[in-house]
Amino acid sequence: MSSARTTTRQVPGPVRAADAGWWRQAVVYQIYPRSFADSDGNGLGDLRGIISRIPYLAALGIDAVWLSPFYPSALADGGYDVDDYRDVDPRLGTLADFDELTARLHAEKIKVIVDIVPNHTSSRHAWFREALAAPKGSPARNRYIFRDGLGPDGGRPPSDWASVFGGPAWTRVPDGQWYLHLFAAEQPDLNWDNREVRDEFARTLRFWSDRGADGFRVDVAHGLAKNLAEPLGPLPGLNHLDGTLPPGSHPLWDRDEVHEIYAEWRRVFNEYDPPRAAVAEAWVHPSRRPRYASPDGLGQAFNFDLLDANWNAGELLRVITDSLADAQRQGSSTTWVLSNHDVVRHATRYGLPPEDGRVGARNWLLTGGASPRLDRGLGLRRARAAILLMLALPGSAYLYQGEELGLHEVPDIPEDLVQDPVFSRSRGAEKGRDGCRVPLPWAVGGPSFGFGPGTAHLPQPAWFGPLSVEAQERDPASTLSLYRDALRWRRELQAAENMEWLPRTNGRVLHFTRPGGWRCLTNFGPAPVPLPAGDVILTSVPVEGDDLPADTTAWLISG
Ligand code: NOJ
Repeated sequence: MSSARTTTRQVPGPVRAADAGWWRQAVVYQIYPRSFADSDGNGLGDLRGIISRIPYLAALGIDAVWLSPFYPSALADGGYDVDDYRDVDPRLGTLADFDELTARLHAEKIKVIVDIVPNHTSSRHAWFREALAAPKGSPARNRYIFRDGLGPDGGRPPSDWASVFGGPAWTRVPDGQWYLHLFAAEQPDLNWDNREVRDEFARTLRFWSDRGADGFRVDVAHGLAKNLAEPLGPLPGLNHLDGTLPPGSHPLWDRDEVHEIYAEWRRVFNEYDPPRAAVAEAWVHPSRRPRYASPDGLGQAFNFDLLDANWNAGELLRVITDSLADAQRQGSSTTWVLSNHDVVRHATRYGLPPEDGRVGARNWLLTGGASPRLDRGLGLRRARAAILLMLALPGSAYLYQGEELGLHEVPDIPEDLVQDPVFSRSRGAEKGRDGCRVPLPWAVGGPSFGFGPGTAHLPQPAWFGPLSVEAQERDPASTLSLYRDALRWRRELQAAENMEWLPRTNGRVLHFTRPGGWRCLTNFGPAPVPLPAGDVILTSVPVEGDDLPADTTAWLISG
């Protein structure tokens, strides 16, 4: 993005991250395979579709891709209901396709992170079918969490626990027992006290590591260890973060015992050279994050504090300062996330008024996007400022497919086409997460805007065309160009994992420097602020003159 104050220095060529500790400051691009690119026209994205877009990924300038689940699945929860952990869904390809994808990404120096889902299998997994066919108390049932029900005929569930997606967390099977599922009924929870379960997952980690996976994203990492001592009493709430219980004492989430599992995983990761990396999806109190991210455990943990924060200098100052201090204590690097496949896209969040004082879009989604009014321009402007801020921070940055196009959430998917189980299990009280999973627009037109030769598995809105890759690729002012420029500069300027706040940082402005003189200034508004001395190399929107307008970020280097 050029401006009157922009230096004439050329954007540098790519410099790749070193292998040792490659993940510490990597830019990881999340691909949700079923919505990325469809090579065969069946409406679902697939591995060959991803292969066909490797030049795009290379040009973007990322260090790694994280592939959301591509395993065989009935898609009861978008693929997070896994039928077989060591295969590829035939609709998405074959193991040979995975090998080719990995080899070709590696040839571009892009690492591969596989999503591993250890808290639950799908109800179609061979183990669960076996458990259903086996009698009560059998070893096959002991791989899961089966219990007798309450009441004279056992007709009431073993406890009143609710699933995260709404509705009861127990489902009854024909012989009268009940099994636990913290998510959908098609996702029975595994019993991690069972040695066989632990050994099986170690085999799966080796399976993908042997095939060239460089790391793992660990789904619901805080859920595996549970205290299921009888009686299974009422819970103060399913939410272990509401402050009712001291951190670490909820029977279902974030228990200390879970770290014994990850210590075993670490030993598996360290069998490889370089050791396989891992990142925990752990929705835990910040004080509890370090253990997931410890070098004896998974090594890194998602930090969702940035994603949860309002667009506000004071709040972000606190989040950034605390996150960096935590990372230093844990010996890991911080992760930064603004969007993923579970949350409303950040361009949309930033364009809506806060709900109950917090950033949120629940009501907007429930009205199909009618109310409150989304200010698309403001949301995108802030999203562009936010990504430059995030990419200048020390640590690793996780991007979600489509954010580089400045996509907004799709709020108006007709109810009969909604796929997310959250919608049905909450009886429509929540719209769900489909709106950020709509297949990507690659072309201005066509049956699915270039996603594939046929139509897409979720309906794409007409406004996707002008936001397509084709429309943005050659426009230097596009959001895609901004991401490409930012990632190239980041490689050039990336330095040790620290930063220093500079004096201009106040209630409206964040201003910091990285070692080597890379500086980042964000103006949260409402009035313009003077740009400091130095060469402006990138701004989130065009800037004329010597002032940085509201909701804008500038990167500078010493003149
Ligand atoms: C977290 C995943 O990100 C989400 O998509 C999924 O629904 C739940 N875990 C259950 O696997």
